[in-house]
Amino acid sequence: FSWKLEDYSKLEKGKIIAMIVLDGWGEADPDQYNCIHVAETPVMDSLKKGVPDRWRLVRAHGKAVGLPTEDDMGNSEVGHNALGAGRIYAQGAKLVDLALASGKIYDGEGFSYIKESFETGTLHLIGLLSDGGVHSRLDQLQLLLKGASDRGAKRIRVHILTDGRDVLDGSSVGFVETLENDLSKLRETGVDAQIASGGGRMYVTMDRYENDWSVVKRGWDAQVLGEAPYKFRSALEAVKKLREGPKASDQYLPPFVIVDEDGKAVGPIVDGDAVVTINFRADRMTMLAKALEYENFDKFDRVRFPKIRYAGMLQYDGELKLPSRYLVSPPEIERTSGEYLTHNGVRTFACSETVKFGHVTFFWNGNRSGYFNADMEEYVEIPSDSGITFNEQPKMKAVEIAEKARDAILSRKFHQVRVNLPNGDMVGHTGDIEATVVACKAADEAVKIILDAIEQVGGIYVVTADHGNAEDMVKRNKKGEPLLDKAGKIQILTSHTLQPVPIAIGGPGLAPGVRFRKDVPEGGLANVAATVMNLHGFVAPSDYETTLIEVVDE
Ligand code: 3PG
Ligand code: CO
Repeated sequence: FSWKLEDYSKLEKGKIIAMIVLDGWGEADPDQYNCIHVAETPVMDSLKKGVPDRWRLVRAHGKAVGLPTEDDMGNSEVGHNALGAGRIYAQGAKLVDLALASGKIYDGEGFSYIKESFETGTLHLIGLLSDGGVHSRLDQLQLLLKGASDRGAKRIRVHILTDGRDVLDGSSVGFVETLENDLSKLRETGVDAQIASGGGRMYVTMDRYENDWSVVKRGWDAQVLGEAPYKFRSALEAVKKLREGPKASDQYLPPFVIVDEDGKAVGPIVDGDAVVTINFRADRMTMLAKALEYENFDKFDRVRFPKIRYAGMLQYDGELKLPSRYLVSPPEIERTSGEYLTHNGVRTFACSETVKFGHVTFFWNGNRSGYFNADMEEYVEIPSDSGITFNEQPKMKAVEIAEKARDAILSRKFHQVRVNLPNGDMVGHTGDIEATVVACKAADEAVKIILDAIEQVGGIYVVTADHGNAEDMVKRNKKGEPLLDKAGKIQILTSHTLQPVPIAIGGPGLAPGVRFRKDVPEGGLANVAATVMNLHGFVAPSDYETTLIEVVDE
């Protein structure tokens, strides 16, 4: 095996390439709920209408990105994995499905490890409660509950995080009902099983990339210490009541604990317990994993650091080996395009703001933190605003990201300048249509800043997206018509979509004969890596998904 890539003789090496990923930017029919259509997006429009055969759609959901079924919407983890790795891997969702179906999950080291606590301790399951399939899935939690109790867990506590971001807002009530029902059935079999705490995913526990540790602390206080501003006798009551608050939504519910008749928390985590974080996706579990696992930890005062047996559903960070115990082995994403390029003289710059920074670095590089070769790469993180919902600041840091990219391009120090522009996704997830329109315009303006710099240096651009979001903000029936709720109101879609995403190539450095091939109609995000390698002047490794481009004689 060699890291050396073959020359792609049809294209010159050494060009400066801007690799722009618009987060949450899919292609859909135009209507009033398509914020990309409603927004003024002259730059993206011109790419679509520009030189023929230099704009196309690629698949960004379901099997094309390694998800279990065609009903699985795309997401940033699998999208950036595919873009960076150039191959399709069975992803966390699928791997957990397989391990549960075969029962192998119970034979592994991770389960044996936590099982040691079943006799005398409590098993705690912490994670996102929905069927979104992005970070976790309810049916997997249900199977694990059953599997663990069948294998000796006598006392189980579930710490729920309500969703409303990968699924409709308000759906948490139904998910809690389902879980309560399961737990009550378990109780009938003699297992002491209850929900112990909860909170909305964006306010409790599921922060990412160390944007705001107070989010994780709120969760810690409820889950480990059994302390929260709200106390309820049942989780269903908690979610229903807390949703009545001003601006309350599933994503942002405050933390609560469930208490017994004496007002005592029913499930703090104590010495001798076992803990499993049930999310398979890494980004929003890594911070909690650190708090649960690291002896030395200074991000917030843990007050108590219980001696527990902790396992992740997956290992979340292959480089940090975090957590050290896990139930299912993560996909082994190796030999990513980023790693190859560093071995072939390609200097890379990558940038986004905090909430998407790991997407263009960690996910891009196959769930690996840090540099492959610090002499060849520079990663810049622009601090995100914290403590706000992004509909309050829909422009986010798009201009700042674009200006960093512009400067990196104009410095001529790098061959690849890669960014993620978060607006369409982060604002799309708030469900605020007006703000999402502003967000899309801001992303388009940022693209312009980068393309202008590419123009100046005679470079090449590749503009694409990781999955859909802002192009459809309403839940629809099979015919594509907006669905109304019982009160006759449209149901806002906060989640991603199943739509394909655009990819455009161009710039003064792109040889005139380069165009998209016609014979890869099913092309998806995983085909982009080979494409970009060609544009850098290299042939992609033979096991990569095929390139989207060809060079014809003009
Ligand atoms: C989130 O974590 O914000 C959503 O669940 C998925 O969004 P992303 O895949 O775009 O990060
Ligand atoms: Co998203």
